[in-house]
Amino acid sequence: MNIKWEELGFEFMPTRSNIRFTYENGKWSEGKLFNTYDITMSVASNCLHYGQAVFEGMKAFKGKDGKVRIFRPDENARRLISSCEHLLMATFPEEKFIEAVKTVLLDNLDYIPPYGTGGSIYIRPVMFGTTPQIGISSSLKYELVIMVVPAGPYYKGGIKPVNAMISDYDRAAPLGTGTIKCAGNYAASLYPTKIAKNAGCAVGLFLDPKTHEYIDEFGTSNFFAITKDNKYVTPESPSILPSITNKSLMTIAADLGLTVERRPIHVSELADFAEVGACGTAVVITPVGKIFYGDKVFEYPSEIGPVSKKLYETITGIQYGEIEDKHNWTLEL
Ligand SMILES: Cc1ncc(COP(=O)(O)O)c(C=O)c1O
Repeated sequence: MNIKWEELGFEFMPTRSNIRFTYENGKWSEGKLFNTYDITMSVASNCLHYGQAVFEGMKAFKGKDGKVRIFRPDENARRLISSCEHLLMATFPEEKFIEAVKTVLLDNLDYIPPYGTGGSIYIRPVMFGTTPQIGISSSLKYELVIMVVPAGPYYKGGIKPVNAMISDYDRAAPLGTGTIKCAGNYAASLYPTKIAKNAGCAVGLFLDPKTHEYIDEFGTSNFFAITKDNKYVTPESPSILPSITNKSLMTIAADLGLTVERRPIHVSELADFAEVGACGTAVVITPVGKIFYGDKVFEYPSEIGPVSKKLYETITGIQYGEIEDKHNWTLEL
């Protein structure tokens, strides 16, 4: 193994092992470590045709003190359960999930980027129905695989704002699957994201699918803004993923003395914000420099704004064990 930590991006790479569980005859198996990424299943598997496939994403960080901290895995365990419930899949118990994350990390310790490289290890659980079936119904058999991938710092050479484009398309239906992390939501966001990329924007921003008047979220992250009177505002909507990063940032913002508002955000408000950002596990915070909406362009600072910077430093400080974790978010390995 010869990983060049400084060159790591956010791409799949095999590690020593992944842990797998099978649900069959109404119960989950014990976890087993595999050192292959292949799986054998029927081509009639439910997940391939009818889309019973959900996943999660979280990170663990090596601190200056040498300890490895997993960031809020209990939240990911619960979100996975809610995704499964929504798609009528078997659910995986929270405690067993956390044990499994620890087991796979312990077997892959040497794949966790060292402190100081800005990297982390990304943990990707994926669960899918494997019952062979042609009629549409819920699968009886499932696989849960938890893999880990070393990830570099998202921003090499400093945080730079990205441009976003408001999509004419929706990623989820008004009372559909927007609140869960199912594979289909991401398939649906690929085409609108391509349109945004073709227009020179790194990300697509989705409006609420019912009225197209309110901000929902980006394709892979939540939306937040800082108002000119120092409020942290983020959308309330029945079609966005409850981001664990956003939830944490709301708490940090309140700790820093900002008023936090979670409420519908009309698209016209984009003209008034002091700072706009995207937040999520992979990016932490990405400042947004411009938002294109039809023939309108909303502009924000060309460097990360002071409030976004403070939020970024605080959350990453907690993740690397440099700032006191007073809300008990991190779980030491
Ligand atoms: C659609 C979407 N919204 C928001 C997020 C951010 O969620 P989290 O902060 O839990 O990573 C993600 C990434 O997981 C996402 O895919």
